[in-house]
Amino acid sequence: MKIHIADHPLITHKLTVLRDEKTDSPTFRRLTEEIVTLLAYEAMREVKTKSVSVKTPVAMAQGVQLTKPKPVVVPILRAGLGMLEGFSRLIPTAEIGFLGMVRNEQTLKATTYANRLPEELHGRQCYILDPMLATGGTLVAAIEFLQEKGATDITAICILAAPEGVAVLEKAFASSSLQLKLVTGALDERLNEKGYIVPGLGDAGDRLYGVI
Ligand code: URA
Repeated sequence: MKIHIADHPLITHKLTVLRDEKTDSPTFRRLTEEIVTLLAYEAMREVKTKSVSVKTPVAMAQGVQLTKPKPVVVPILRAGLGMLEGFSRLIPTAEIGFLGMVRNEQTLKATTYANRLPEELHGRQCYILDPMLATGGTLVAAIEFLQEKGATDITAICILAAPEGVAVLEKAFASSSLQLKLVTGALDERLNEKGYIVPGLGDAGDRLYGVI
């Protein structure tokens, strides 16, 4: 698995405000979108393109165009939804799938409760949006779900990651031929006994949408 930890003062600055417990939901949502746009820029460094030529008012120029099939972006509900707008702003032509996953707070095990995805993901570049890579359970389950639909090229975009989650992800796909990449805004210290990232930012879903 390739890992890219964003090392950019602008991302770290925005992350600092996001972490602050005093930051309200509207600001949290806006900052999440901004951070995801910046992370998506990094994540799409290897997006597939083909050469094309265009005529400028002055001369012919060589350029590139994104190839088909279009990339697929899959936010994991509910917190991943807060990342979708930031991703789509960068690449509005990406197709959007949805995966509803819930973590049992006692066992920390993830289960799928809803999905809307293309039937065939072979040959598609897939981008999973999940703000917090904590125990890794949700992301491993989501990646396996996409693999069952033929996906071979998956990039996970997470705002924060814990070393424990990164290790779980690495172990789960160590012997797989899957092209897997993780792009994250920061690698934090650890998980606490409740499975929260430390120092983290708390419950991303609650901070985006309120406690319901
Ligand atoms: N999910 C969250 O929203 N926050 C964490 O710290 C861990 C998992």
